[in-house]
Amino acid sequence: MQSSFDIPVLDDLDAPKQVSATTFGKKMVYLETYGCQMNVSDSEIVASVLTKDGYGLTHNVEEADIVLINTCAIRENAEQKVRRRLVELRSHKTHINPDMKLGVLGCMAERLREKLLDQEKLVDIVVGPDAYRDLPNLLNQATDTGQAAVNVQLSKEETYEDISPVRYATNGVSSFVSIMRGCDNMCSFCVVPFTRGRERSRPVESILDECKTLVETGFKEVTVLGQNVNSYRDEKQGSGVDFAELLYRISQISPELRIRYSTSHPKDCSDALLHVHAEQANVCNYIHLPVQHGNTDMLQRMKRTYSRDQYLDLVERARKIVPGVSLSTDIIAGFCNETEEEHLDTLSLMAQVRYDHAYMFMYSERPDTYAARKFEDNVPEHVKKRRLQDIIQQQSGISLESNKAEIGREHIVLVEGESRRSDQQMSGRTDTNKMAVFDRLDFVKGEYVKVLVTDCTSATLLAKPLGRL
Ligand code: SAH
Ligand code: SF4
Ligand code: F3S
Repeated sequence: MQSSFDIPVLDDLDAPKQVSATTFGKKMVYLETYGCQMNVSDSEIVASVLTKDGYGLTHNVEEADIVLINTCAIRENAEQKVRRRLVELRSHKTHINPDMKLGVLGCMAERLREKLLDQEKLVDIVVGPDAYRDLPNLLNQATDTGQAAVNVQLSKEETYEDISPVRYATNGVSSFVSIMRGCDNMCSFCVVPFTRGRERSRPVESILDECKTLVETGFKEVTVLGQNVNSYRDEKQGSGVDFAELLYRISQISPELRIRYSTSHPKDCSDALLHVHAEQANVCNYIHLPVQHGNTDMLQRMKRTYSRDQYLDLVERARKIVPGVSLSTDIIAGFCNETEEEHLDTLSLMAQVRYDHAYMFMYSERPDTYAARKFEDNVPEHVKKRRLQDIIQQQSGISLESNKAEIGREHIVLVEGESRRSDQQMSGRTDTNKMAVFDRLDFVKGEYVKVLVTDCTSATLLAKPLGRL
């Protein structure tokens, strides 16, 4: 992994000069992140809190004094992955580095604290997503007492607005900027309101300042983050700043800065927001608009607060106001009581909307949620799997057709780095969030390059570079 910042990050042990120059006497922290973009962004906050307190960061678990795992609880398999990793790390601690402290951060912290601490004795510290300022204390406490230290308190106010994230695993081109935390929507399947607490918005000025700093340090793209960015609201600013206004203000920082966001709940995607997409050239022509299901009764059971028709109207509105807008979605297959007809409604909605991309999941019951308390997780596993397969198969066809339609078109791509397949090729995304790969020539990351699409797969556009902007 590459690093381009001035705090000590050690990639390998074969760089002794660098190690002794920068880490002498410092305790080193290794941070591993699971889950969504918000967790990635939170890990940058954690890195900031710890480096301010004198810790160093390392990408190498072997040389870490402290190993922190930022966890996700969204589906059962996400949790299982983390637990397997914890068992592995615990064994590393027992057999190789007994002084090492092992910690769990993030969305599994609250729910699993007792299990992780008492029953399984897996970890030394457990820290919830709103308690990262307390990390230095907790680490000291765990070291001094030899006992586990815990803070899983959720907050109604914490937004970490004054903490400058340390971009320790960045490509130097695009960055996440967190604008709100928590979620009040209580979709019946979702654990996030329980793991991350109440929704709160970060003050607008601190968001703008962070974006300006990113521009000054050479970043070309920000993705602003929240579980439901459309409900962003900073009340302290005059008559209040909503998400459309915030996005507009970010777009005015620099025409060189591209802006994306994630995730937007369809229930409050306003026309004002769509107009910001249409009118501001640097606000990307792309919206992730998770529908979850294509059947109105199911959407009601999911507590999504819109019907199939309302969602389809929104898609029509978006395409009218923002011509050529690219859309992606999230889908859940096999939610409680889903019938075959209801499943077919998901397929038909997806065929009607023709998303450019979709993230597709099998329903996984999460403890404490409304669905876990009130409904039965009664679609058999093999049926869930088959329905998910139907959905994935149909979407692959649509994604391929959508990419094929790009052949012969020109796009502006922001170069993010070398392509994964070959160092002779560069890759970057179009305004519409499609990954494009093209000959390296003398392009470098961070440049805007005009390309002509010549071929494609269902995931990537193959393109010919026409020149930098
Ligand atoms: N805040 C975002 C979603 C965050 S979770 C939004 O509302 O759009 C990302 C996705 O995980 C969700 O959109 C949903 O499709 C999926 N998901 C959430 N809970 C799930 C569960 N219990 N089982 C399967 N998928 C789930
Ligand atoms: Fe979960 Fe719904 Fe909130 Fe998204 S909007 S995080 S799916 S409760
Ligand atoms: Fe997972 Fe927490 Fe994100 S549950 S998806 S890391 S908000």
